Amino acid sequence: MDQLIGSPAIARGLRDVEDRIGRLGGSSALPGINAGAGRIISAGGKRLRPALTLATALALGRTPNRRVVTAAACVELIHAGSLVHDDLMDGATERRGARTLNAELGDGKALVIGDFMLARAGLAAITAVSRPVAEVLAATVVELAEGQYLETTSLYDPDRTVEAALASIRGKTAALFRAGCLVAAICARATAEERAGMAAYGERFGLIFQILDDLLDLTAPSGLLGKPAGQDLRHGVYTLPLLLTRDAGATGSLGGKLTGEQVEEVIRELRTAGMVELTLEYCRGLAADAVAALPVLRHGEAAALLYGLPTAYLRQVGEIVGSTSVGCDLLE
Ligand code: FPP
Ligand code: MG
Repeated sequence: MDQLIGSPAIARGLRDVEDRIGRLGGSSALPGINAGAGRIISAGGKRLRPALTLATALALGRTPNRRVVTAAACVELIHAGSLVHDDLMDGATERRGARTLNAELGDGKALVIGDFMLARAGLAAITAVSRPVAEVLAATVVELAEGQYLETTSLYDPDRTVEAALASIRGKTAALFRAGCLVAAICARATAEERAGMAAYGERFGLIFQILDDLLDLTAPSGLLGKPAGQDLRHGVYTLPLLLTRDAGATGSLGGKLTGEQVEEVIRELRTAGMVELTLEYCRGLAADAVAALPVLRHGEAAALLYGLPTAYLRQVGEIVGSTSVGCDLLE
């Protein structure tokens, strides 16, 4: 991940993307909306989705132009807007180490500022990129909402299946990663085959990203997360790491609200039952699928970044959660 974001060509493009996100997020006639959107935009974030958009354009042989930069900014604005809604739904008070918009301004203002960010991205896509890109992004917002809705339909459900959890994260997270790659391929006038390959890569990497985010939620110290740990479990969201471990035979007191101590106890049981290894193993399979989906790429450096990203990210998270067994043989 650091290699991707730190690569000179991508870092250069990200500076333009940052400028564009700032302009779009600050483009309301209402200063209060600009201030709220600006708070979430400037709170940080890795800009991983726009970095993937830029890397895709480069790997397909195109220098990121104004359209690609705007498309990447739209993707990040949708991401940030969806986080505003997510925090509102969760009643979260902290994200990226800062207070959430709902905690700071109240639910009503947070809701419409999130709406503004999503709508502004749509407007920019249609006016400053292209109709096909705007269509992809609009369809992606639909998937985000559907994926998030699916999560709400299986809260505290001890029988939630791996497939049900996958359907949810495919919509709420992987769809936007897929879109980030696909819009770049569209802007680069890639062939249908190249578009499909990049979209599949983005979706698979997006699944890995969410599954590892869920693993971190269950394992990483709060200081590192910028939010309290164990939140998913506390809110009844039974994520892939938990479900994979349950399916491997671990039992746990699931199905109802848990106290802080009970959350810690369930997490201890899951770790003892091999949750970290099971999750990393599952993600290794997805990483291999992601790399296998990549089309033939023209630009050596960007291509290498895309090939290496899934394993590099797995290794990074593996180190954080205390496993040393993250394999690195995808490129061989
Ligand atoms: C964060 O995941 C949330 C998402 C990836 C998607 C949120 C989507 C919505 C709120 C749907 C509404 C959005 C639109 C575009 C209409 P997480 O809660 O697992 O991760 P976290 O730990 O960062 O909160
Ligand atoms: Mg959340």
